[in-house]
Order: sequence, then structure tokens, then C-alpha cells
Amino acid sequence: MISRRGALAGMAAMTIASSSSQAGIIQRDSAWWQSAVGYQIYPASFADSNGDGIGDIPGIIAKLDHLADLGIGFIWLSPVYASPMVDNGYDISDYRAINPIFGTMADMDRLITEARARRIGIVMDLVVNHTSDQHPWFRAARADRGSPYRDYYIWRDQPPGKGTPADIEASFGGSAWSRDSKSGDWYFHLFAPQQPDLNWTNPALRAEVHAMMNWWLDKGVSGFRMDVIDLIGKQPENGIVADGPELHRYLREMHEATLAGRDAVTVGEAWSATPQNAPLYSAPDRHEVSMVFQFGHVTQFWDEKLGKWKPKPIDWPRLKSTFATWQGALHGTGWNSLFWGNHDLPRAVSRYGDEGKHRVASAKALATILHLMEGTPYIYQGEEIGMTNAGFTRIDQYRDVETLNFHRIQLAEGVDEAAFLAGARANSRDNARTPMQWSGAANAGFTQGTPWISVNANYPSLNVERDRADPDGVFQLYRRLIALRRDHAVIRHGDFRLLLPDHPALVAYQRRLGSETLLVIANMSRQAVNLPPSGISAIHGRDILTGRRVSMQPGGKFEPYETVAIWL
Ligand code: GLC
Ligand code: CA
Repeated sequence: MISRRGALAGMAAMTIASSSSQAGIIQRDSAWWQSAVGYQIYPASFADSNGDGIGDIPGIIAKLDHLADLGIGFIWLSPVYASPMVDNGYDISDYRAINPIFGTMADMDRLITEARARRIGIVMDLVVNHTSDQHPWFRAARADRGSPYRDYYIWRDQPPGKGTPADIEASFGGSAWSRDSKSGDWYFHLFAPQQPDLNWTNPALRAEVHAMMNWWLDKGVSGFRMDVIDLIGKQPENGIVADGPELHRYLREMHEATLAGRDAVTVGEAWSATPQNAPLYSAPDRHEVSMVFQFGHVTQFWDEKLGKWKPKPIDWPRLKSTFATWQGALHGTGWNSLFWGNHDLPRAVSRYGDEGKHRVASAKALATILHLMEGTPYIYQGEEIGMTNAGFTRIDQYRDVETLNFHRIQLAEGVDEAAFLAGARANSRDNARTPMQWSGAANAGFTQGTPWISVNANYPSLNVERDRADPDGVFQLYRRLIALRRDHAVIRHGDFRLLLPDHPALVAYQRRLGSETLLVIANMSRQAVNLPPSGISAIHGRDILTGRRVSMQPGGKFEPYETVAIWL
């Protein structure tokens, strides 16, 4: 561990990407993915190399230096596999082939090599709750009831009766059972009808998945992000969808068959994870996954009935308490992932900050309070420059299957179109899927052609080129946060104590490891607020992110989105 004094004296050294003089004394106390920061790429929207309007793998390779400068340790690559793209690649028709719109397998191999040369790992999206209905397994399964692939999927010969526990709804709307026109039987799908669920009770299917994972690991990928992995233990006949009784047995079996003895990172997407059951996934001695993505901080602000389509305003005391619960629940028992956004969620600054006047300050404050907690932080593409929601006002601007389905369903149920569009404006998945804004050139420098989804109109002033050139911009702040995590064990492993839990705007916490204590305070509101008379005593020191001197007594003023992080 480097000393507090060393860190304070060496602002300049601390902010460079790799502080070689300090490297020797950094304690080797954690797995590589505990000191690394992940970065999610949504390939269709990242960078287009050939002018067809769709981002691709050569486009990603061309931007690797941007990511290396940021200092990330790995890329979570959303699916690039062969797919009919009903759900933008989360419907896979061949796990060992690259979708030609994204490039070739040679491009993929080059991406792995070029990333590795920059010490960046590639983490593949493992979508094995379901396949595409175009996958050869499903084609064979529906063509012939006697096919060995029939039992790779979940069938029933009767439509589910009304009121039976198996009467389950699909995430994208409608029943989870669809009738296969070929065999006349019903098959199960928790997402679109073109995404039939795999039958994990079948050991032959599990073995196929393991073989496929080993094939990718042998190619040199650094791990997997496991799509809706908490659903693989489902028992539709008993009405069980998430967190089924066999889930953890399947995860341990998968670990044993693929990950054991390899230094990979795995992160399971688990909407059902709770502070109580999350350690079951990530406790090191259980050998399941490195960590899960849990969504407690997201779904607590959804409407009870209309869900994401009617979001509630953010209530900071509740949000802080959720983070504190998760920090406490996994400290020493498992490992947290930390994120504001991904390809299914709105832009962080639009949802939790201020996309207007305080865009830059609020993007930086959000980054700071997230990245200084315990866990592995993830940056969603564009977050490192504070990109905002799409701002769409008409349904024909949307491309997302979920948004389009629910538009139809909710309007049929009598929801007013303006109300639906307001919900979509706030929470549609397409908010995160507009093209990456690289520069002020046409189409934000994303493509020479026509983008598959509109570029956000704010790109002339909000783009990578501009933000990177600003020493007080969002990018430079992320860069410092990433370097700090690498250099300080207290950020990786210190315990967490929430301060001022009831304050409506100030997010304040302390991290402590041995004799080192880090204090973080941020005003997450558009108004100036005063430090309350009790709860935090005087603050004196040098802000570790900006180097500025801070000297404040209780009663002192925090400007909108002002952030302080100092060693105590
Ligand atoms: C996950 C993905 C989402 C996808 C769904 C079905 O939630 O993140 O994008 O639509 O699973 O694969
Ligand atoms: Ca392209």
C-alpha cells in the first residue's frame, strides 16, 4: 500500500496512467479484476468503420487507444455473434461465429490481440438463457419431436391453462409460451418469441455450453458477462422463473467445467439478486462467479404497476441506503459490481444527475461517488464524457424491441401516448444506444453513412474530442479515479461507512483500511447546500481528484454537484 503522504505529495505522478515508481510497493492483495475497471461496448453504437451505419469490430479496434488512455482493465463486449438481431444480438444463432455486420472471426481475433497488447481483456457476453429461434438447435428441435435437440428447449403440448402457476409473462410483454407452427406444440421464452429458452435441466445442453465457453477462453478472452444468468434454474411447471433451486448447482458445475484454474472474470446479470443471496454467487470459496450485476438501486425507482415506463424521481436517502446495504452485505463475503448505466438503462447523468446546466459537474460527481466504493466499477460507453439520454419524442425514432412492444401493449391497455413517450424518454433502452459521440463532425464521427439509430442532437458540443481536451472535463476525472483505484488498497478493500444517511442531497461516506481513511462528500443536487452542524467535523486537506485545498467547517457551503474526496 502506498502511503497517504506519498499520494498527496505526488498529485502529478498519481494521475499518470501507470505510476511505475509506485508499482513495486502496491500490495498484490487482490484478483486483477478487483483493481480493474470494466468498460461496456455496445458494438452497434460504438464506431462504424465501413460506412454502413452500424458499429463494428474494426471500429472498436480503431478506438482502443481511447480506452487504454482511460486506463480500463477490460471490455465487456455486448454480443457480436451471429444473430438475426431481433434483440440486437441477444438472440444468438451461432455462438462460434461473428455476425458479418460486425466483422469476421479474424477481426475478433485481432481485437483480442490488440486489446491484450494494451493490457485490456475482452469479456464476452454469454447469452445462454436462450438462443435465437434461428439457432440450428431450435430449428432441429421444432422440425422433429424425436430430435436429440428437442430437449434443449422447453415444450408443452397444451396451452397453459388460465390460473395455473405456469401462466408466466415474458419480459418483453405477452405470454412466455408461444405456439410453434411446425410441431403445434408450445415452447417457453422469457423474452421475445424469437428467443426460445434453453432447458438447463438437460445435461447435454449444459455440456454444450461449457464446451463453447472453453472454446472462447482458449481463444484468449478474459471472461464472461452472463446474460440473465439468474433465470437458468427456472421451473416453469412450478411457476419459478428467477433464482430456481438448481441455479447455484449449475453455476458451480459451469465453473468447474470451464473457469477453474483460469484467471478469468465473470459477472452474472441477476435482476433477482438481493443483499441476502448475492454472496451465494460471489463468495470466493463457492466457485461460481466473480460478482453479479444487481439492480436494487435501479428498480427501487420504478412504478409498482407500470415499471420502468413510469419512473419515480430519485430519492437520495433511499438510494444511499441501498448502496450502503450492498456495500455492507458483500464486504468480506463476496464482491460488488458498481454501475450507473448499461445498454438497458438510461444515461447516468440524465437519470441521477442533471443533463442541462450541471451536466459536467453532475457526471463527475456521479463518477466519484460510484468509483470510490468497494467493488468493480463499470463504465458504459459514453459515460466517460457524460453523454445524455436520446431525447426522442416520437415512437418512430425508437428501435428497441422492448420499447416498441410496450408502446403497443400499453396503448392497447389505455395508457395515453404522451405518458408512454414521457416514460420512454426517461427509461427506454434506446437512451443508451444512440451512437457514441466522437467528434463534432457529421454524425458525431460515428459513421460516414446513415446511423441505424439517430445521433443525439447535442453532439456538436458534447463529444470525445472536446471533453478530452478539457482538463476539467469528465474523461480526465474518470482517468484519475481509475488510477486511484489501482494505487490504493483502501479504495479496493476498505470498509464502508455511510455518513449523513438522512441528508436529502449530500452523499457522504468514509472508507477505511488500517490507518488510512478516505472521506467522500458530494452534493447531488442543483442547489447549494450547507454541511450540517453535526455528522461530519471540519474538513481540511487536499482534494485527491483535483488537488485543490479544501478547508470547511460545519455550516460550510457545497455548490451544486461539488465533490470533495480527502484523506483524513
Ligand atoms: C439482458 C440483456 C438485454 C436483453 C435480455 C435478453 O437483460 O442485457 O439487453 O434484451 O437480457 O437477452
Ligand atoms: Ca459497420
